Amino acid sequence: MENKKIKIGLIGLGTVGSGVYKTLRNNNLVEFKKIAVRDKSKPRNIDSLDMSLLTENAEEIVNDPEIQIVVELVGGIHPAFDLIKTALKNGKHIVTANKELLAKNGEELFNVAEENNCVVLYEAAIAGGIPIIMPIKTILAGNKINKIEAILNGTTNYILTKMDMQGAPYEDVLKESQMLGYAEADPTGDVEGYDAAYKITTLATIAFRKRIKVDKVYREGISKIRTADMKAANELGYKIKLIASAKLDKNGNADVRVHPMLVSKKSTLAHIDYVTNAVSLSGYPIGDITLSGPGAGEFPTASSVIGDILAIAAEIGTTDYLLPMMRCHHHETANMIDIEDTINKYYLSINAKNNKGVIGKIGTICADNNISLASIVQKCVDQDNTANITVITELCREKDLRRTIDVIEQDEFINKVESIIRVQTLN
Ligand code: NAP
Ligand code: HSE
Repeated sequence: MENKKIKIGLIGLGTVGSGVYKTLRNNNLVEFKKIAVRDKSKPRNIDSLDMSLLTENAEEIVNDPEIQIVVELVGGIHPAFDLIKTALKNGKHIVTANKELLAKNGEELFNVAEENNCVVLYEAAIAGGIPIIMPIKTILAGNKINKIEAILNGTTNYILTKMDMQGAPYEDVLKESQMLGYAEADPTGDVEGYDAAYKITTLATIAFRKRIKVDKVYREGISKIRTADMKAANELGYKIKLIASAKLDKNGNADVRVHPMLVSKKSTLAHIDYVTNAVSLSGYPIGDITLSGPGAGEFPTASSVIGDILAIAAEIGTTDYLLPMMRCHHHETANMIDIEDTINKYYLSINAKNNKGVIGKIGTICADNNISLASIVQKCVDQDNTANITVITELCREKDLRRTIDVIEQDEFINKVESIIRVQTLN
């Protein structure tokens, strides 16, 4: 009997590719025709892998006339971008988990896809195993979404949780998350917030139906977070999380950013721990919803990739225009608000000389620069007679805060402003 299974070409058999292959290899709708890797001789944790499927030349996949779906699980821009473009021009549908490529080159990719009547699906690129792209594009399509607050990086959430709960050293936990397959090939992308910035760029683009430019997304990572800040945050009723957020103001301007944040223990995101991710959305008419689940790792990510593969495979041969709701329909570019013009609350940790009047001085400098304080506490005096002072501000403009920090740091009694972390504002 003729084999009617849809043929897939898989590019990349690393953490995610292995999970996809192991889960889907006995499926009765699709089959793997070829799998491209960098090094065929590399040992792989896959039982009875059919070595005859492997190639070191991904061009063989994107140019194979029998392959209808190309699954790109390599990551990065080169060679992924060119491979996907060639595949699209050859009429193949694409499934990818490549958030960097989507954030930087998504517009061109979706245009090429449309010109060739193909689809590009990317559920796994945002929040790993959590279904979020398809829900926004389908069941939430009637909503006007104006706010997203999310934990979108499993590696950093894992590191922050372990530092906070177990006092584990940063470097050790980073190594652990690399071994668990959560981190990117270069983990700088995770810890410095690039990965979350790529994800919020695409997520906000589809939620707001306006293109967000990734180079205008404000980004800060977690590498400067100290255990002393976590302890202070806990005492004040907060957890420190790497938050990716996107807001549309009433004039349609977008404030999109990634940075560590003191999150109130009363909020859902404060309780999203380890590799778990969560996306909180506010929209009309839905109101507020939060979706959470595993944000990285072999099988949770494979789950999203496989969902996309099967969604395409189920429609191939049944229609001339597959999955219309999953396509890219917007062309407007969002006007972005500069971080300096945003309004936030801040946590400051200041190391000062243990002199009389230093707290009063900090209060005066803040007041002179338009900043009200919600609290100011001298935590302890160290053996070298320096005092650690913790400040929480009321809402103020970032520009004013930065000017204030410059003035505080010039004061003779101040050694250093050791940490500046934004504080979540609850509605
Ligand atoms: P990975 O473990 O580093 O695997 C990358 C794979 O790509 C390897 O199999 C490698 O081959 C192959 N490869 C590299 N260059 C190639 C080339 N020129 N031609 C063919 N194959 C090539 O990466 P991963 O963690 O699976 O991530 C893959 C993608 O999924 C990335 O875009 C990543 O951001 C995304 N993602 C990952 C996760 C996660 O939890 N890991 C979650 C969501 C999304 P060799 O095996 O021979 O080295
Ligand atoms: N490195 C990413 C993370 C993989 O830790 O979240 C999932 O996209």
